[in-house]
Amino acid sequence: MDYTLITGASSGIGRAFAFECARRKSNLVLVARSGQVLDGLARELASAYGIRVEVCTADLSEPDSARRVFSFCRNRSLHIGLLINSAGFGYAGEYADMPPDELESMVQVNMLSLARLIRLFVPSMLGCRKGGIINVASLGGLQGVAFLSLYSATKSFVMTLSEALHEELRGTGVRVVAVCPGYVDTGFHDRSGQDPSQSVMPVYDASRVVRAALRGLKKNRVRVFPVFSDTVLAGLQRCTPRKVVLRLAALLAPHNYSRF
Ligand SMILES: NC(=O)c1ccc[n+]([C@@H]2O[C@H](COP(=O)([O-])OP(=O)(O)OC[C@H]3O[C@@H](n4cnc5c(N)ncnc54)[C@H](OP(=O)(O)O)[C@@H]3O)[C@@H](O)[C@H]2O)c1
Repeated sequence: MDYTLITGASSGIGRAFAFECARRKSNLVLVARSGQVLDGLARELASAYGIRVEVCTADLSEPDSARRVFSFCRNRSLHIGLLINSAGFGYAGEYADMPPDELESMVQVNMLSLARLIRLFVPSMLGCRKGGIINVASLGGLQGVAFLSLYSATKSFVMTLSEALHEELRGTGVRVVAVCPGYVDTGFHDRSGQDPSQSVMPVYDASRVVRAALRGLKKNRVRVFPVFSDTVLAGLQRCTPRKVVLRLAALLAPHNYSRF
């Protein structure tokens, strides 16, 4: 029986993926640190949509966590047909002030665990000649973003890895898409230390990210921008001098740093 595995399912975009996939009658494996939140969500989705929902509580900042998530699925014979990597976080502020532990956790969650999960789950998808991977990247990954430096670098990694795998897996039946949201209304900004009221970007709902990503996967797109303004910004980014792009990216981010 096929399952969709969603990391970061306890809130924001990952939670919205869980609702939409449940509505489409997919069985789910929900992954995040907040076990109680996931348990409540699992009960709600299972009873509302008549699907099977498994909860795998995991801290993806721990180096061995991806392997443990994989073992959880293997021990229960859960075949993952769709892997959605949504777990992630940012840190807003001067790079020089960033706590070193935070730096390592971010690389682990946003990059290494994502890469390892794909590496672990893709062989069985290839064996079935069918599968999908949705990676939640960011508009911020199209270029470096001042005061979100490491975060933007981790999202560039997600985009590059997704693009490479999209091409590498062409013709195998396994599809890979990166979804690149701009500014979505979730707890992300508060958690990363940004002031949402400072945003000059249009703010939209997580459900728009989810619908765009699932549509993009169906159409076998390489990358997806959820709303028109994101598509426009991505297009402008390609034909604007790099120094101007970097300056604009810093200005568009919802920051409140005195030098800007
Ligand atoms: N919101 C935006 O504007 C925006 C824009 C572009 C891209 N994104 C990306 O979208 C993705 C989802 O973010 P969101 O907006 O939905 O933010 P969110 O509401 O803060 O959700 C983040 C999710 O990641 C999980 N997570 C964080 N650290 C984790 C860890 N160490 N181990 C396991 N799970 C962890 C959280 O679960 P627990 O706390 O329960 O562990 C939570 O479910 C992220 O990759 C983010 O970079 C967001």
